[in-house]
Amino acid sequence: MRFGIAVILCCLAGAQGQQVFSVNSETPQFRGGGKTTERQNCESNMFTVQRELGAMGEKLKAMESRLETCQSLMELKSTVASLKAMLEDFKKEQEDRPKVAFSAGLGENGHTGPFNTGTTLVYKTVLTNIGSAYNPATGIFTAPLRGVYYFIYHCHGGSSSEMNVSLYKNEQHIVMAYEGKSDDSSDNMSNGVSLQLESGDQVYLHLAASTHVWGQPKSISTFSGMLLFPL
Ligand SMILES: *[C@@H]1O[C@H](CO)[C@@H](O)[C@H](O)[C@H]1NC(C)=O
Ligand SMILES: *[C@@H]1O[C@H](CO)[C@@H](O)[C@H](O)[C@H]1NC(C)=O
Repeated sequence: MRFGIAVILCCLAGAQGQQVFSVNSETPQFRGGGKTTERQNCESNMFTVQRELGAMGEKLKAMESRLETCQSLMELKSTVASLKAMLEDFKKEQEDRPKVAFSAGLGENGHTGPFNTGTTLVYKTVLTNIGSAYNPATGIFTAPLRGVYYFIYHCHGGSSSEMNVSLYKNEQHIVMAYEGKSDDSSDNMSNGVSLQLESGDQVYLHLAASTHVWGQPKSISTFSGMLLFPL
């Protein structure tokens, strides 16, 4: 670089000298010979300097792009770090997530009902009962926490009498499945519902008076429920 500046200064000085000389001289061609050589040298040096400056510009550009790459890498590193933290949170959330799910069959081989009055159906054969929110002695599911739950039930029966099974939340009639008398040797029905429950709410299936459901060890009639998500 120092060389470059020296050359520029030299050339400027040469150019000035020549201007003064041109104005004062009567025979410029003869006396100007030496100056011309000097100017040619300077021009060639200027050309070299220009070339060098160009090369330096290229180098600077390359360095700039490497610096940008470096910055992107640092950004990437911090993104990876925050993603890692998020993953840890998610893992912990999954571990702490309340797990509630049950499935149970009527169990008995034969008819349950018909009875003179409506009755709560007790599904005695527990297939799954994670969280123990379902009580196989009473047939009642008690919500352990506030959330949205999904319940589904399937009922099989002979066709000689009606089947009428409703899902209740506390004392409230929510959904119903019904099959009338028919010529079929058997009938099947089902229903399901998503329910928002408070902690302590009770859900159970109710068999209407004078109707029946058929059970067998292979759990042809079942009641299932699960927590979809807490609220
Ligand atoms: C009800 O389901 C049983 C099998 O679970 C089947 O044998 C029967 O045919 C079904 N009844 C009708 C009316 O589809
Ligand atoms: C089924 O039983 C419910 C009571 O649990 C009653 O309200 C409803 O009328 C009954 N449905 C039929 C079609 O008998």
